[in-house]
Amino acid sequence: ENMLSAKAPGKLILSGEHSVVYGAPAIAVAVNHYVTATFSPSDTDTLIITSSVLGQSRRTLVQLEHLVAHLDQRFERFLLGELAVQDVLQTPHDLLYYTALQSDSLPSGTVTIHSDIPTGAGMGSSAAVIAALLQLFQSSSCAQQRDDKKPEFFQKVKYCERLQHGRGSAIDAAAVTYGGVLKVQADKVTPLPLELGDGWYHFHTGTPCCSTGETVAAVRAKFSHRTDLWQQFAKITQAFEANIKQPSRLGSAMRANHQLLQEIGVVPAPVSALIAQIESMGGAAKICGAGAHQGETAGQVLVYFPEQNSETLSAQLGVCLTPLQQQLNGAH
Ligand code: PMV
Repeated sequence: ENMLSAKAPGKLILSGEHSVVYGAPAIAVAVNHYVTATFSPSDTDTLIITSSVLGQSRRTLVQLEHLVAHLDQRFERFLLGELAVQDVLQTPHDLLYYTALQSDSLPSGTVTIHSDIPTGAGMGSSAAVIAALLQLFQSSSCAQQRDDKKPEFFQKVKYCERLQHGRGSAIDAAAVTYGGVLKVQADKVTPLPLELGDGWYHFHTGTPCCSTGETVAAVRAKFSHRTDLWQQFAKITQAFEANIKQPSRLGSAMRANHQLLQEIGVVPAPVSALIAQIESMGGAAKICGAGAHQGETAGQVLVYFPEQNSETLSAQLGVCLTPLQQQLNGAH
């Protein structure tokens, strides 16, 4: 009773991670793992945000008045206020704070955040936290977002993500706003008619040792001037899009994409060995998301292998394959 909740999905990148940062297109799919934010109102003037998503459980006490005073201010003024605001955040968390900053108004009560999206694994959990909180805090609360409001919602999620991660593409923001399979190039988002059926899986290799921001920065330092490489990525993503109605042809685009991701050094050796094993059996696989420029794990790996059943494959590879179910009907 009096409880509102909002949820937002995670995503996997089917083609074009990293190159999307340099203006190439990328294709992502929103998947059926979610962040859920539940609000239960109270008549105190505080907002308590409890989250089990971001590392250990956090309990953040926000003085409502204080935050509301910052809501409509420009970023410079927010920076001026930051110290004072951090004083009232027992465990300051920039993500929650930036999201609150973008919301229309803040209610009094308790927000509890839960997630079944693996964190730090290239599934866009931070964009999903932002999207779930924004929906909850918007004056329309958890009412269905109308289609004509989606561009505005997309911009808000993107803005919060930029504040949190620095420069990055709009791909996570697009996935949580629109759902389904999407092509994203700069700010342009186009839905694609792919229905991921049998043969699509993902598995988790463990949390990468470095954050998305660190890996993107490492790639930028070495390869930002290599327009030839980014053009090759773009061609592969275009080939993926062109074959989207004949999924049996998508394996070769995935293999080519994996090659390029190896070239830019974001596929750790043990993950690369697993992918080579899948290829030698006749399937295709690639990492999803930033990957890692050091360490042994890379987060999520996408597998396309229609001729094999997932149990046989899991046993042969020694990993746990999850069938990929896309979140079909728009994200909210
Ligand atoms: O690892 P993720 O899900 O944060 O994806 C990062 C995707 C990159 O292309 C590497 C970066 C970006 O901002 O698009």
